[in-house]
Order: sequence, then structure tokens, then C-alpha cells
Amino acid sequence: MLRRRTWTAAISAGLVLSLAACGGDSGGGDAGGDSGGDGGEVAGRVGVILPDTESSVRWENFDRPYLEAAFEAAGVEADIQNAEGDAQRMTTIAEQMITEGATVLAIVNLDSASGAEIQEQAAAEGVQTIDYDRLTLGGTAEYYVSFDNVAVGRLQGEGLAQCLGEDTPANIAFLNGSPDDNNATLFSQGAHEVLDPIENYTQVAEQAVPGWDNQQAATIFEQMYTQANGGIDGVYAANDGLANSVIQILQRNNVAGIPVTGQDATVEGLQNILAGNQCMTVYKSVRDEANALAELAVALINGEEGQTTGEVEDSEGGRSVPSVLLEPQAIFRDNVKDVVDDEFVSAEDLCTGEFAAACEELGIS
Ligand code: BGC
Repeated sequence: MLRRRTWTAAISAGLVLSLAACGGDSGGGDAGGDSGGDGGEVAGRVGVILPDTESSVRWENFDRPYLEAAFEAAGVEADIQNAEGDAQRMTTIAEQMITEGATVLAIVNLDSASGAEIQEQAAAEGVQTIDYDRLTLGGTAEYYVSFDNVAVGRLQGEGLAQCLGEDTPANIAFLNGSPDDNNATLFSQGAHEVLDPIENYTQVAEQAVPGWDNQQAATIFEQMYTQANGGIDGVYAANDGLANSVIQILQRNNVAGIPVTGQDATVEGLQNILAGNQCMTVYKSVRDEANALAELAVALINGEEGQTTGEVEDSEGGRSVPSVLLEPQAIFRDNVKDVVDDEFVSAEDLCTGEFAAACEELGIS
């Protein structure tokens, strides 16, 4: 949907400048005299840089196609690239996108420091930025689009408690996401909020997985399991990839089936749930997230104020970032169907071979 095309162009430059002026105390980057994003037309170009292909299948399997669709529907030209887990590469891609005329740049940072540098550089060139999914601490993004990530963690904590039962004593282990990802901190915070007060639970291990690396996750969990002499009854795993690594180790020790949490509602995660090896996942509608990003990018291009749901504190940068935070949904075996009904995952991909019977039982077709 294209909005108020003609006159917004005229006020666009002015608004962009005044927005830049408002946010201009955030790191000395000045928008300079040749304001970005004008050129006489509303049309702009958006660059999106996804973080990697390994930490979650979501980036290439879900984000990319939904972003393509969202920008196409908004009538905006978009260049979507992937930094393949390399912060230097993300910087290079950002520079290229800016050189090629991007007016808005959205990044999923690989760590806040490199993200903030990219944003500062963009601002110096008159290019506005948006944090997509991960907040860049100390960054200068105009907007932040994500889910309520503490709520994600709370759902995971509640899910684990639901699968374990709160009345039975249980040893639990925490396998957190990357220490460089602000989201991972928030997920863990939410989970601890729920699990810490449960008196029957003993927390026997906790570790973060650098870069959300699934192989390292398996190694880390194997060590946890050995050190605990197998005395682990439930695992907080921050996403479906980490959950799958945990499940592999549990299978090797013939104890798969103990509650393990996840996130992203990936086919693998949902299949692990159907098989009874994973307790739950968290479904985050990447479609909605991609649409929210496209809307904010269009607003920035048009010099309009974007629709937000509130503000998020960047403690490092000492500023509030206007944000769109969406609601996550917990998925257990009995509502796996919701993810299929929402057309996030197809029954065809999910209900293969050994999973067909469970799908049939749950009315997924
Ligand atoms: C995202 C998760 C994802 C993880 C690993 C987080 O920042 O919010 O959805 O699983 O990164 O890529």
C-alpha cells in the first residue's frame, strides 16, 4: 500500500532533517547538509542484512522470503543479504549498500559494537537505520522491530515448568543463546524470572553458546550432562537449533524425552515436539515482523512518523528507541497445528515419514 505519495515527498526532506536533529545527540553523527533519501521522489531503496545461516534456519527460510514479500507489497526496492556470521562482512555489505544508494539500512547485528559502527557510518552518510530483531546497544537506529523478547523467555520458562510439573523436584540446565546477542540476554532473563522462584527446581548448569553455534552447543551440553552425572531432568534451550543439539546428546545417552524448550517454530523443532523429544517452541510470526520492518522503512523514506508499539531502553546508549514489539506464542504438541494454520510451516514439510501419524492425530493436513 502506497500512501500519500505526492506531498510527502515535499515534506520528506524536512522531516528527515528534523528527525535527524532529534536523534542527533546519539553519537555525534551528523546528517550533513545533503540529507539522505530525497532526490525528488518518494521511492527509496532499503538494504537488509541478515546475520548468518547457521544460528537458526529462520533467517534464510523465513525472514528472507517474508521480507521480500513485504517490501514487494510496499512497493519498495529491497536488497537482502546475509553476513554469514562475519561482522567484517556485514560492514562491507553495509558500505556497498550505501554506495549503491540505499536510503534505509536494516541490520540484524552480530554483536552490538559492530552494529553500532555500521549505524554510525550510515548516519554519517545520511542513511537511516533500523534494528531488525536484535537491538544494537549503543547504536543509533531510528527504530527497533522485534518481539517482546523477555516474554519469549517467560514462555520458555513457563513451558519448561509445565512439561516438568512444578510439584516434582527437578534438576534443570540452561543453554543460553549467544552472549553477543542482546535477545539471548532477554530470553534468559524471562526464563529465570519464571523458573528461579520454583522451589522444587535446582539449577545445575548454565552456559551461553557463542554465536548460537549448534555444534558448540552439543559439546557444551555434553559436558554439562557428564558433569551432572546425567542428573538433568529438564533443559532450557534458547532456540530450536540448540534444542536439537541437546536432543542429540540426550539420544546418545538414551534419555531423550525429558523436557527441552526451543524457539522459532522451525520444521525440525516442531518435528522434535511431535516425536516427544522437545517440550515446546516459541512461534514468532516472522511475517508480521517483516511487515512491520517494511512499514517503518516506508515511513522513514516518506519522512513520516512510523507506527510503533512503544519504546525500548538502550541502557548502553542511554536512550529510548521507538519500537514495534510483537507478541510471541508458545507452541506445545497440542497446538502445533496453529503454526501450520498460520501458513508458517506447511503440513507437507512437517508431516513427512515418521511424523505423519502424529500429524493425523492432531488434525494437521
Ligand atoms: C533471534 C532468534 C534466533 C537467534 C539465533 C535471536 O536473536 O531472535 O529467533 O533463533 O537469534 O539466530
